[in-house]
Amino acid sequence: MSAQTALIIGASRGIGFELARQYRAEGWRVLASVRRPVDAAALEMLGCIVLQLDLNDAAQCVALGERLATEQLDIALLNAGVYGPLTGAPETPSSHEFDAVMHANVLGAMRVLPLLGPLVASAGGRLAVTSSSMGSISLRTNTNGWLYRASKAALNSLLVDASLSYAPAICVALHPGWVRTAMGGDGADLDVVESAAGIRATLAGLRATDNGHFFNYNGAPLSW
Ligand SMILES: NC(=O)c1ccc[n+]([C@@H]2O[C@H](COP(=O)([O-])OP(=O)(O)OC[C@H]3O[C@@H](n4cnc5c(N)ncnc54)[C@H](OP(=O)(O)O)[C@@H]3O)[C@@H](O)[C@H]2O)c1
Repeated sequence: MSAQTALIIGASRGIGFELARQYRAEGWRVLASVRRPVDAAALEMLGCIVLQLDLNDAAQCVALGERLATEQLDIALLNAGVYGPLTGAPETPSSHEFDAVMHANVLGAMRVLPLLGPLVASAGGRLAVTSSSMGSISLRTNTNGWLYRASKAALNSLLVDASLSYAPAICVALHPGWVRTAMGGDGADLDVVESAAGIRATLAGLRATDNGHFFNYNGAPLSW
């Protein structure tokens, strides 16, 4: 039997890199995207096939679709994301801050989910986005990072749209936990190894009835 294929978008560092490492360690064929060519070497050392993609570059997204056209993806994870300003409501972000976060986290997803959905559907696989509990409206208790929260809430909306579009792919939004990465900071709860292992186990355990739902890294359901 041939190896299963996972695509990780945003694999240069942090949670995405660790997911690529763990899938390779388990013998998967891994397609891993980076923005900067200099970040390719570490992933190639792991045996990943490295693709270049900046979600802010529409032409690169089109090229990614052409590159992947003959692939069947057992797992596709849109993991890339940016946080933007730390400020909460009611501090209005600048146009530049708004565009940077919304383009990467939302427009980027609207560019690549339509490319990935059919490739995951043809494998009967799992299509996931790395969202955040900060994007949940029902779980909200403060407004810190309100621009990031809005972007992840929008990403969750896109994921539900994907779940209605790409049967039999199982489409889910994932919260990776609060993880010690450049984004999560040194004081975060979780080691990246534990977060990635939980994400992989959660994806592996998904059933058809999980399509269109939101999960914590440890498999616990989250509310929108
Ligand atoms: N860490 C946490 O506690 C936490 C909690 C909840 C959710 N998340 C989410 O988990 C995901 C991964 O976070 P992380 O903690 O691993 O963050 P990270 O260490 O800051 O890594 C972010 C990744 O996204 C990539 N990226 C950013 N903008 C991109 C763009 N325009 N095009 C392509 N790639 C882009 C980065 O590439 P470069 O190296 O080129 O910048 C990097 O690979 C994010 O979506 C984040 O929102 C993280």
